[in-house]
Amino acid sequence: MDKIVIHGGVALRGRIAVSGSKNAALPILMSSLLTTEPVVVHNVPRLRDVHTALGLLEGLGVKIQWIDEHSVQLHAREVIGHEASYELVKTMRASFCVLGPLLARTGRARVSTPGGCAIGARPVNLHINGIRALGARIQLRHGYVEAHAQHLQGARLWLDNPSVGATENIMMAAVRARGHTTIENAAREPEVQDLGRMLMAMGAQIEGVGTHVIEIEGVERLHGAEYHVSPDRIEAGSFMIAAAITGGEVLIENAPAHQLDALSVKLREAGATVTVVDGGIQVTRAGALRPLEVRTLPYPGFPTDLQAQMMALLTQANGTSVITETIFENRFMHAPELMRMGAEIAMKGATAVVRGPTRLSGAPVMATDLRASMGLILAGLAGDNETQVSRVYHLDRGYEALDAKLRGLGAQIERVPE
Ligand code: UD1
Repeated sequence: MDKIVIHGGVALRGRIAVSGSKNAALPILMSSLLTTEPVVVHNVPRLRDVHTALGLLEGLGVKIQWIDEHSVQLHAREVIGHEASYELVKTMRASFCVLGPLLARTGRARVSTPGGCAIGARPVNLHINGIRALGARIQLRHGYVEAHAQHLQGARLWLDNPSVGATENIMMAAVRARGHTTIENAAREPEVQDLGRMLMAMGAQIEGVGTHVIEIEGVERLHGAEYHVSPDRIEAGSFMIAAAITGGEVLIENAPAHQLDALSVKLREAGATVTVVDGGIQVTRAGALRPLEVRTLPYPGFPTDLQAQMMALLTQANGTSVITETIFENRFMHAPELMRMGAEIAMKGATAVVRGPTRLSGAPVMATDLRASMGLILAGLAGDNETQVSRVYHLDRGYEALDAKLRGLGAQIERVPE
């Protein structure tokens, strides 16, 4: 396995391009199961999770063909499989979202439950309750959800909390159910909106995506479509923080500015200059950083997927910052690693108190999840000497060509075999 080696202390300068959104691409690829006609998806990031999703679909009989570097055609003329194995779902939880479209298409699905993960218990009860409310018979056996439904029936649903995955899974089942479905307290995340637009391009009748109430009128069949995945707001946000933490000046090309308001407001409050320009977002930081209070929330609140990166930044602020994580119960695993680099962080329950500024000194560190890895990379960019981040496979799940992209900004970062 590879590791990332960084020599920190370089202010990043230049332009960096944002890839297509991973979290939007995954359910969009799975929605190809809903039609017998080919769909073409553009701006698909070349990431490990995308390849895992394509492998899952291929196993179900979907014919997959890359048209160019970031465009893929998927043709589910016949669906021959019904299962997503434990092996698959445990490597990528988002595989669980195959349940809805597979069931809607074939009347049958057997999908492993994901189990816990590094950042929390992450149950799938809301997915299961939702699909059951659409009339599916569901049994939990041997660690698998076994679902059957001759036809799905529209229903009125209320989600206990606005889960992104549950909203997506239910949407993909409901678009082909008989009658009307209402999802109340639905997730409003841009990735849910992207999936909604893809489904509509396929002929689904959906209203209210991007709001808390999604209305779906089921249709008998969906047709082929061509769709562009939106840019990845979390990757873009990570680059914005990279500019701020290194005291650099970076244009993040095609960053989805309106989706990053929560971060932009916080970066400005911390003393960075964030300017929305034609074709992206420009972030510069010359003066000292100020401390912040940050609370993760569902969209449009501050994203939990940028919390680790923000924590790295706040180790460099002049004063005491407070970070509260409200989405996942165990998402401070990066903090002890940052402390190994010299950060002063105290944690109690869902709150982390970060005292800055601390000089970060390069150290070998280990990542526990995708966004934690990025937090450590950012700390390495701001630190002295050499930082080595191992378990790079986490990064490969969600950041396309990260080392090359950062090198383009002048970062001294390399990927080497461990
Ligand atoms: C998605 C994103 C992930 C992001 C998260 C929150 C993908 C592939 N991943 O994950 O990067 O961090 O949204 O923005 O899109 N919950 C339940 N029961 C359920 C489902 C969720 O209790 O059935 C809880 C979770 O444990 C968590 C909260 O709801 O505490 C939010 O999770 P959810 O929005 O479902 O996140 P994911 O879709 O798994």
